[in-house]
Amino acid sequence: MGDLKLHMSFFLSPMLLFLFISSKTHLCSAVIADTISAGQSLTANQTIVSKNGNFELGFFTPGKSLKHYVGIWFKKAFVGNRTVVWVANRDHPIIDQYSSELKLLQNGSLVILNKSKIPIWSTNSTSRVSKSSELVLGDDGNLVLRDGSNSSVVIWQSFDHPTDTWFPGAKLKYDNITKKAQKLVSWKNSEDPSPGLFSLELKPDSGYVLMWNGSQEYWTSGVWDGQGFSLVPEMRPRFLFNFTFESNENESYFTYDTTNKNLLSRLVIDISGQIKQLLWLEQTKMWNLFFSKPLKRCDVYAYCGPFGRCNSAQDSSCQCLQGFKERSLEDWNLGDPSGGCVRKTSLQCGNRDRFFQMPGMKSPVNSVSFAVDSVAKCKSSCLSNCSCNAYAYSSTGCSLWFDHLLNIQQLDSGGDELYIRVAPSEVSSSKKKSTHWPVIVGAIAGALALFSLVLILIWTWRKWRPVETSKKVEGSLTAFTYRDLQIATKNFSERLGSGAFGSVFKGVLSNSTLIAVKKLEGITQGEKQFRAEVSTIGTIQHVNLVRLRGFCSEGNKRLLVYDHMENRSLNSHLFREHEESKAVLDWKTRYNIAIGTARGLAYLHEECRDCIIHCDIKPENILLDADLCPKVADFGLAKLIGREFSRVLTTMRGTRGYLAPEWISGVAITAKADVYSYGMMLFEIISGRRNLEQTENGKIDFFPTQAAKEVARGGDVRAILDSQLEGNADTKELTSAFRAACWCIQEDEIHRPTMGQVVQILEGFLEARPPPMPRSLQLFAEGEGNIRFFSESSIDITSFPHSSTISSSTSSQSKASTGT
Ligand SMILES: *[C@@H]1O[C@H](CO)[C@@H](O)[C@H](O)[C@H]1NC(C)=O
Ligand SMILES: *[C@@H]1O[C@H](CO)[C@@H](O)[C@H](O)[C@H]1NC(C)=O
Ligand SMILES: *[C@@H]1O[C@H](CO)[C@@H](O)[C@H](O)[C@H]1NC(C)=O
Ligand SMILES: *[C@@H]1O[C@H](CO)[C@@H](O)[C@H](O)[C@H]1NC(C)=O
Ligand SMILES: *[C@@H]1O[C@H](CO)[C@@H](O)[C@H](O)[C@H]1NC(C)=O
Ligand SMILES: *[C@@H]1O[C@H](CO)[C@@H](O)[C@H](O)[C@H]1NC(C)=O
Ligand SMILES: *[C@@H]1O[C@H](CO)[C@@H](O)[C@H](O)[C@H]1NC(C)=O
Ligand SMILES: *[C@@H]1O[C@H](CO)[C@@H](O)[C@H](O)[C@H]1NC(C)=O
Ligand SMILES: *[C@@H]1O[C@H](CO)[C@@H](O)[C@H](O)[C@H]1NC(C)=O
Ligand SMILES: *[C@@H]1O[C@H](CO)[C@@H](O)[C@H](O)[C@H]1NC(C)=O
Ligand SMILES: *[C@@H]1O[C@H](CO)[C@@H](O)[C@H](O)[C@H]1NC(C)=O
Repeated sequence: MGDLKLHMSFFLSPMLLFLFISSKTHLCSAVIADTISAGQSLTANQTIVSKNGNFELGFFTPGKSLKHYVGIWFKKAFVGNRTVVWVANRDHPIIDQYSSELKLLQNGSLVILNKSKIPIWSTNSTSRVSKSSELVLGDDGNLVLRDGSNSSVVIWQSFDHPTDTWFPGAKLKYDNITKKAQKLVSWKNSEDPSPGLFSLELKPDSGYVLMWNGSQEYWTSGVWDGQGFSLVPEMRPRFLFNFTFESNENESYFTYDTTNKNLLSRLVIDISGQIKQLLWLEQTKMWNLFFSKPLKRCDVYAYCGPFGRCNSAQDSSCQCLQGFKERSLEDWNLGDPSGGCVRKTSLQCGNRDRFFQMPGMKSPVNSVSFAVDSVAKCKSSCLSNCSCNAYAYSSTGCSLWFDHLLNIQQLDSGGDELYIRVAPSEVSSSKKKSTHWPVIVGAIAGALALFSLVLILIWTWRKWRPVETSKKVEGSLTAFTYRDLQIATKNFSERLGSGAFGSVFKGVLSNSTLIAVKKLEGITQGEKQFRAEVSTIGTIQHVNLVRLRGFCSEGNKRLLVYDHMENRSLNSHLFREHEESKAVLDWKTRYNIAIGTARGLAYLHEECRDCIIHCDIKPENILLDADLCPKVADFGLAKLIGREFSRVLTTMRGTRGYLAPEWISGVAITAKADVYSYGMMLFEIISGRRNLEQTENGKIDFFPTQAAKEVARGGDVRAILDSQLEGNADTKELTSAFRAACWCIQEDEIHRPTMGQVVQILEGFLEARPPPMPRSLQLFAEGEGNIRFFSESSIDITSFPHSSTISSSTSSQSKASTGT
C-alpha cells in the first residue's frame, strides 16, 4: 500500500499549505478575506484570496525586476514562481510599492495610488449608489467590482479587461457596436508584463487571429463551423472542455468551460507568441500543455527578430546570423529575442562585401524576385545596392532581400541556400582561426598529459585499493562503493541507455558477472530512507522482474545495480530501433513476452507484501534476457523519487501514449493505471509498431483505433498482426491478446481487468468477452487524433539525450522515442 500513501500525500500537501496560510491569517492579517468594500485599501504586504483559495490578488514583483504591479495569480497551482494571470497596471509600474495602495474609492473607482496619493491606474468606473460598491475576487479568477446593495449589478470586471490569459467562463469578444475587439496581449518578457508584440483577437470574418505588432497576422483559427473552429480541432467540445460560440448583432464571442469544475486551466498568449492551453495536474504539480498554436514556435512571425534565425530543425531556439550579435542580450536572456540582431561590423557598401553561405534555410519574408541567368549576376545585383542584405539563386531566378531579414528558419531538410551579406572583415576574422593552431596543439598536449596522469593514478590506486570494499546488507543486496562501480563500469563509459531517472551503464564485477548500473538523478532522500526503500525493493524477486543486486549511496550519489539483460529492451526488437537488432520476434515469443510481463506486474500488484504500482509501463522498461524471457525494470522507483516521480514521468516525452487518462483527470492513481499502459503496450506487441505514428501527410495515425474498427467491422483479427509475421500466429491467442488489450485500455478503470485476470485471459483460463470500443478510441475515430497531452516543460527540455522528438510541440509530433 506504499504507493497509495504516496499519492495521498499529493492531495494532502496543498490542503496543508492552505491550512497553514489560513491560520497565518489570524496571526498577522496579511490576507483579507475575498472582498474589499468602498473606502478600504490594500497595501503591498496584503492580499485577498478567493473563497475556495484558487486565486490571490495583491502586489507582485516579476523576477528580479525593480518594478511592481498589482495582479492576480494562482494560489493553489503554485510551483516556485507565481503564475500571474492578470495585471492591473501593466503599462504603469509602481516604483515604490511600500508607499502605494490599491484603493476602492467611495465613488466606485478602483485605483492604484502612488506615494503622493496620485492615481497611476484607475478603472474609471462609477457606482450608481455612492459608498456601496465592493470588490470581490472570484474562484474563477474574475475580479468583480459590484454594487453592494444589489450584487448582480456588475460595475466593472477584470474578465472584460484581460491581459494575456483567458479563463474558462470569460469571453473574448468582438463588440459589433463599437467595432472593437478585446485582445490578449503577451507580456514583453518574463520580467516585464507591459504589452509585448503578440496579440490574439476575434475578427468578425476570419475567426481568432494571432498578430504581430498589431497588424501582421500569422495564425488563424479559421471560422466557426457550428461545432468548432475549422483549424483548431483541439477546441471541439469533448470530455474536458465545453466550447461555445455566440454571435448576435451586438457582439460575437467565444467562451469555454471545463466539464470538471475542480480542474484548473488557462489559455495564455506567451512571450514567444504562441497561444497555449494549459491544465494544472495536482498529481504532478505542474502545468501540462493541452495544445499550442502555432505548433512550432518558429512559425511565430518575427519570433527571432531581424537577422535572427530560428532553429526549427532542433529546439526552436533563436540564434543570430553569422556576422551579427544580439541587439539586447538582456532581453534575449529574459526570453524575448524579438529585438533581433545587429551587425557586428557595418557594411562597406561596395564590391568588397562578402557573403556567408547558409544552406537548408526557409527564406525570409518580403523578397524581390526577378529572372537572371547566372548566380554571378544575382550576386552582383545584390552587391550593387547597399540596402540589399541577402540573395538566393534557384532555377526560378534570383531573390534579393532589402532591409531587415525576418522569419529565417533552419530547416530539418530541404530549404534554400541563402547568402547573407557581411562586411569583409567578418569573413577574414573567421579565417584567422588558423593562427590559433599553436594554442590548440598546446591544449591537446595538456589534455593528453592530464589523461595519462589520470591513468597512472587509476593504475596505482587499483594496485593499492583494498581487495573487498563492498559488503552485504539485509538479505541479498550488496552495498557497493562508488569506486567499485567506477571500476566495474570503466568509469561509466558504456552507456546502455537513459531514461527518466538517469542513465544506465554496463559493467562487469570482479567475478565477471555482467551488471547494469543505474545512476539515479533527482533523489533528495536521505541515506537512511534510501537504504530502507532499496532493501524493500531488494526483497521483491520474481522471474519476470529484473533483479536488484545492490546499490551505492555515498554523499549525494545514488546508484542501483541490476542484473544485465543481454537482449536489451523490448522496443529495440519490436520497432527495430537499434541497428544491432536482428530477427523479427515470432508470435510464440511475443505471446510469451506478453504473458511474462503480465505475470511480473500481477506479482507487483497483488502478491508481494507492499503493493507496488509501476507507473511507467512501456516497451523501454521491459527487458529481455538471453532466452528472450521478459523482465520488468524500474519498479519501485516511484517510492525512491517520491513526488518528483510523477513530475519526471510527465516530463518524459516517451511516456505519452501509455499514460492512463486518470493521470490527466486528477483522480488517485491505482494499479489500474498500469493495466492501461500494459494494454497500450500489448497493441504494440501485436502490431510491431508504435501506437501513435505520424503518416506522411502529417496525419496522426492511432493504431488501436484502426484495429478496433477493423475488428468491429467483423474483419479478420489477423489484419492487425505485424505484417512481418506474414500471418503466422495462433488465432485463439491472437484473439485473446487483442481482446485483453481492448479491455485494458477502457476509459473507466472499473472496466479494466486486473493484471491477474489478464494473465488468466492470456493463459486461456478465462475467456474475454468481445470488448466495447473505449471512449478515447471513439474520439480518435472521430478524427480527433490530435489530442495531445504532454507537459509544458517538454517543449524546452532538451536534456533527455535519447528522447528524440516525440511530443515536443516544436517538432513533428509522433516519431518514436528510443529512451530506455
Ligand atoms: C505592512 O507594511 C507596513 C509598512 O511597511 C507595516 O507598517 C505593517 O506592519 C505591515 N503589515 C504586516 C501585516 O506585515
Ligand atoms: C522563477 O522565475 C525566475 C525568473 O523569471 C527564473 O529564473 C526561475 O528559474 C524561476 N523559478 C522556477 C522554479 O520556475
Ligand atoms: C505619483 O504619480 C504622479 C503622476 O504620475 C507623479 O507626478 C508623482 O511624481 C508620483 N509620485 C511619486 C512619489 O512617485
Ligand atoms: C482611465 O482614464 C484615463 C484618462 O482618461 C486613461 O488614461 C486610462 O487608460 C483609463 N483607465 C482604464 C483602465 O481604462
Ligand atoms: C472618483 O473620485 C476621485 C477622487 O475623489 C476622482 O479623482 C475620480 O475622477 C472620480 N472618478 C470618477 C469616475 O468620477
Ligand atoms: C438587481 O439588479 C437586477 C439587474 O439590474 C434587477 O433585475 C434586480 O431586480 C435587482 N434586485 C434588487 C433587489 O434590486
Ligand atoms: C510596430 O509598429 C509600429 C507602428 O505601427 C512601429 O513604429 C514599430 O517600429 C513596430 N515595431 C517593430 C518591432 O517593428
Ligand atoms: C456546455 O455549455 C452549454 C452552454 O453554455 C451548456 O448548455 C451545456 O450544458 C454545457 N455542456 C456541458 C457538458 O457542460
Ligand atoms: C454588426 O453590425 C452591422 C451594422 O453595424 C450589421 O450589419 C452586422 O450584421 C452585424 N454583425 C452581426 C454578426 O450581427
Ligand atoms: C443589442 O443591443 C440593443 C441595445 O442595447 C438591445 O436592445 C438588444 O436586445 C441587443 N441584442 C441582443 C441580441 O442582445
Ligand atoms: C536599392 O533597393 C531599394 C529597394 O528595392 C530601392 O528603393 C533603392 O532605390 C535602391 N537603391 C539604389 C541605390 O539603387
